[in-house]
Amino acid sequence: MMQINNTFGIKAYAKRVIEYKSEEELVSLIPSLHGEKYFHVGGGSNLLFVNDFDGIILHSCIKGFSVTDDEIRVGAGVVWDDFVEWSVLNGWSGIENLSFIPGEVGASAVQNIGAYGVEVKDVITKVDCVDLQTGERRTFTNKECNYAYRQSIFKKELKGKYAVTYVTYKLSRTFAPKLEYGNIIKSLPKGIEVTPTLVRNTIIDIRKQKLPDPKVYGNAGSFFMNPVVSHDKFLQIQKDYPDMPYYETDNGVKIPAGWMIEQCGWKGKSLGKAAVHDKQALVLVNLGGATGKDILHLCDVVRGCVKEKFDIDIHPEVNII
Ligand code: EPU
Repeated sequence: MMQINNTFGIKAYAKRVIEYKSEEELVSLIPSLHGEKYFHVGGGSNLLFVNDFDGIILHSCIKGFSVTDDEIRVGAGVVWDDFVEWSVLNGWSGIENLSFIPGEVGASAVQNIGAYGVEVKDVITKVDCVDLQTGERRTFTNKECNYAYRQSIFKKELKGKYAVTYVTYKLSRTFAPKLEYGNIIKSLPKGIEVTPTLVRNTIIDIRKQKLPDPKVYGNAGSFFMNPVVSHDKFLQIQKDYPDMPYYETDNGVKIPAGWMIEQCGWKGKSLGKAAVHDKQALVLVNLGGATGKDILHLCDVVRGCVKEKFDIDIHPEVNII
């Protein structure tokens, strides 16, 4: 058995962990997957292992960037934030708001990562994949990925079917800052020209203040997704909580799950070795030595409280395995 890398710091094992460095290598190892259970991971930053995995864990180590005009094709195994850093250092704009998100490029396209008013779907043009059963290559256009908030075809209809090998992003040489979200404008230093690098550094500071460092306390970033509720439901809750933060979306009103969890009194509280982070209640942390089951138990208790208080179901963003 081999240990599975995960930022929650949970001890979990698989029969084998296979890392591959190229599309060709991935295709060549597909016959060895037949008859086995397998699961493809990225940087392990969005996973909660509740049990050991009786099968093969696959991980891409495909690296490299290639630039054609304003499109950049990036290997799925590149660390996401290395790509963001590279982009701002090379005069590109478009993903600076997505700075310091843990994980890798392949997962960015599966998960549709988002932060501070930007979602990666806004800049993805193509996703190159390999069919894990047949070894056939297929390129998905942005439209074919069916992107929505933290959703894509790779998490729904085609879950587990494809491995992402390369993602192509369209970035811009012209900086169009997106600073409307939350406290970004307030946090920018005054009297200095706003550049992608300045936005990146500001966002890194905000994230470092709010989010726990997985090297200190294991975690997977936001544990829950923010629910989108109907307008009527929103107005009904707003009557009791006039200061509730919210965001209008095309299909309803998004209410921050972190805010609801805080209202339930869970922020900073723990159940054994699993805790709700004291600076951002959307994040569950491993205080040291927690098992996947400990974290899942806390998840269920918190969900139950939110359901009882607000009559809203919140769902994990993290993949529970
Ligand atoms: N809030 C509270 N209490 C909390 C947490 C949040 O009252 O404990 C309130 C905040 O005051 C704010 C609102 O809820 O009014 C939203 O909070 P925040 O800006 O921190 O963002 P979020 O909705 O909790 C989402 C993403 C984050 C991303 C931030 C910033 C999801 C699941 N999470 O969190 O993504 O960094 O917005 O854009 O959509 C991640 O996915 O790992 C992640 C960190």
